[in-house]
Amino acid sequence: MMWSVIILCVLLPLSIGLDNGLARTPPMGWMSWERFRCNTDCKNDPHNCIGANLLMQMADRMAEDGYLEAGYEYLSVDDCWMAKERSQMGTLVTDPERFPNGMKAVIDYVHSRGLKFGIYGSVGNKTCKGYPGNKYHMARDAATYAEWGVDMLKFDCCNPGPNFVTGFEQMGNYLNKTGRPILYNCALAICMGPKVDYNLVKKYCNTWRNYEDVEDNWKYVFNIIEFYGKNDKNFLEIAGPGGWNDADQLIVGDFSLSAAQQQTQIGLWAIMASPLFMSVDLRNIVPTAKQLLLNKEVLAIHQDSLGIAGRRIWNIDDHAVKLESWLRPLSPKGRYAVGIFNKNVGGLLQTVNRTMSQLGLTDENGYTMKEIFTGISYGPYKLSDSLVIRIPPTNLFLAVATPVTEKELIVF
Ligand code: GLA
Repeated sequence: MMWSVIILCVLLPLSIGLDNGLARTPPMGWMSWERFRCNTDCKNDPHNCIGANLLMQMADRMAEDGYLEAGYEYLSVDDCWMAKERSQMGTLVTDPERFPNGMKAVIDYVHSRGLKFGIYGSVGNKTCKGYPGNKYHMARDAATYAEWGVDMLKFDCCNPGPNFVTGFEQMGNYLNKTGRPILYNCALAICMGPKVDYNLVKKYCNTWRNYEDVEDNWKYVFNIIEFYGKNDKNFLEIAGPGGWNDADQLIVGDFSLSAAQQQTQIGLWAIMASPLFMSVDLRNIVPTAKQLLLNKEVLAIHQDSLGIAGRRIWNIDDHAVKLESWLRPLSPKGRYAVGIFNKNVGGLLQTVNRTMSQLGLTDENGYTMKEIFTGISYGPYKLSDSLVIRIPPTNLFLAVATPVTEKELIVF
């Protein structure tokens, strides 16, 4: 008896996560929502409406322009893909005009381009935009998704009703029962509000939104960064292989962020280990935004195999100085991503003068640093040496810090 208890304790993982083998690193892809919303007007706006053409054209761009190769593998349609009513049999139906050959034909095409396909549903009886929700139909809908070849479900929390937690758990179980690996992106943490239990969320979901929707506006990006900086209930520590906090879509390449603010968004999303879902028109994206989305060093931080989300380690928020610093441990062990963010929106550059120790670094041999957006190298620095830089408003200094090796130490 005693032995069986001991063996059981050894076998039980310390933190239990959804074990469907997916999302070992934070997922990457493209999602229709932020950029294309609920545009269903294919008569007047055929180029931009949610339909087969838009999705297939985006699949072409992802496959041919380097995005898939860089790791963006999920092409995900959001709300408004459905007909307003289910079929007489109760199954979900794709809007027949916008998807003349049905969803399976689109998904087959997306797969033929080497991509995976994500779809959208909701725990309530309606989606946020009033299309059929999954309530009372979850088993049937999970089977439909699997039959169509869906690889990811974004499960929203619109019109949730009192038993929404059970709804999220049930949908996850039905997805698993299909036998098809379907990444489960759920809005459970948002719905739970201040009572959120992140251990429960991680048990049910591969990724979970936990804050408001991003919009194409710096203020929204900034508020998300603040929320993640505060890290209430230590949600960043709960993330890891199989389960990630989702800070919402990237708006890199859209209308309103400056080039530097786009770097700040993707750089901090990489440090926070949030999924990276672009939401931009890849058919006419400007070259600088494309380059940023494909930046190998940023994506290497994001996909780092240690699977530890970074967090804010200090934050100055007074009248004149608004500055914060982030740290994410990287493999091989001892390396770190360092992000220093000038959150001030006033016109002055902010001087940063911080020792390696103050940046959270601890290797006694000291560090060299390489800033990713400029390619500039810094150091070597002893732990007591200071990095002195000047950061423009809303910009991010993003560097990889590598410990100085014994050999380098002799020269240093
Ligand atoms: C919610 C979600 C968004 C999007 C819309 C669709 O607001 O948070 O990401 O899916 O619903 O209606």
